[in-house]
Amino acid sequence: MSANRFHLAWFGAGGFGVKSWRKTWSGNGGWDWTSPQLFIDLAMALERACFDYLIIEDSSYVPDAYGGNAQAYLASATATPKLDPTVLAPVLAQATSKIGIVPTLSVTEYHPYMLARKINTMDHMSGGRTGWNIVTSSSHRAAQNYGHDQQVEHDLRYDMADEFFELACKLWDSWEADAVALDERNGVWADHTKVHTVDFAGKFFSSRGPLNANRSPQGRPVFTQAGGSDRGKEFAASTADSIICGTAGGVAEMKRFRDDVHQRMTRLGRPTGACKILFMCSPVVGETDAEAREKRAQQIAFAEEHPELGLLHLSRHSGIDFSVFPLDEPIPDTVSTNGHQQLLRQAIGLTPREFLRRTQGAVEMVGSPDTIAAQMDEIMQEVGGDGFLISNFDLNRRYISEITDGLVPALQRRGLVRTEYSHPLFRDNLLEF
Ligand SMILES: Cc1cc2nc3c(=O)[nH]c(=O)nc-3n(C[C@H](O)[C@H](O)[C@H](O)COP(=O)(O)O)c2cc1C
Repeated sequence: MSANRFHLAWFGAGGFGVKSWRKTWSGNGGWDWTSPQLFIDLAMALERACFDYLIIEDSSYVPDAYGGNAQAYLASATATPKLDPTVLAPVLAQATSKIGIVPTLSVTEYHPYMLARKINTMDHMSGGRTGWNIVTSSSHRAAQNYGHDQQVEHDLRYDMADEFFELACKLWDSWEADAVALDERNGVWADHTKVHTVDFAGKFFSSRGPLNANRSPQGRPVFTQAGGSDRGKEFAASTADSIICGTAGGVAEMKRFRDDVHQRMTRLGRPTGACKILFMCSPVVGETDAEAREKRAQQIAFAEEHPELGLLHLSRHSGIDFSVFPLDEPIPDTVSTNGHQQLLRQAIGLTPREFLRRTQGAVEMVGSPDTIAAQMDEIMQEVGGDGFLISNFDLNRRYISEITDGLVPALQRRGLVRTEYSHPLFRDNLLEF
């Protein structure tokens, strides 16, 4: 086993929604997106390339932060529409047999019992390959869809997440591992002495329990989390099996982030190897370095022609209307948000135009498969681990193939990523190295 092997996962940006459309390689992406087929093709390709997992991003509202109405979001199919990831996840699990499938579910939109039951069901159905991308939600619009006036205050959302997590784990643990006796002779399917109520009464949630089905193959799903603020990192460090990091600012910043999380884990009494930190990136792959650079130049030109598209996400994640900010004046440090703090911190000081030129993730990766494989190797050696979370807002089948049939084989030839799965359970593969 190579000492410097790292992990790969995929972030399904935009969730179960419209992916690429109206571009050369979009296919019928604008209208056949409600079929799960593109996602099935993605999951199968990622499994062929031995990815650890696929996250299905989610949010459940129609944004209207940019320009004060939903026009730009609906016209461009940005962050809306989105179908329910928990309905897509079992379809992907059925089409695969090794890769981890991770739907996103919010602690401000679910009750812990309902979530624990859903995830337990999925982990059974997938044979132990289910994860939970734990999010708190951030928009007032999402909160209003669930009958609240406002989204809960930023840090308090993480307090709710702590309690939600504790209760969900108690529910997953409410059946002992050997509670199902399957004793046909005595007519005992489950031993009632091994199934326990949880009798949880917290500040935000309560539940009697037990869960109404036995433990799934993994018991608890694999937990992924993306908090980037201090409070978010603290929550992630105490709960996550894998942190998905959207940090900007280059390799030094990636290393700082990982060291910070490790310090928190050590203080919390967790071994640092128990959580794999994967860094978001969106490699631009070409036949040659020159071709890749040309592609990147076209991406930037497109972003500059349509500045609003690049600012829609910043607006919805922060709740700030960036349509009124001059494109070439730095975003002042007086702006603040109850939404995604990490993202807004990355934008402050840049002009909106500079912000939309930046790459997704910490480091720009542009080149042939071999060039990018070498770059990933170098980055991981400097950062110390644990891998990359690949994402592309403009997802089409050509991009999937560039990564899974171009970049991944180049990484495999260098011995940097796995060439086969060692274990049937998702968590065991994730924690293997
Ligand atoms: C890679 C990545 C994926 C994320 N996926 C989702 C998601 O699917 N749904 C969601 O509501 N928030 C998502 N978030 C937002 C995070 O859950 C979190 O709210 C955000 O990183 C801000 O955290 P902070 O306020 O602690 O900095 C994601 C963030 C990152 C960086």
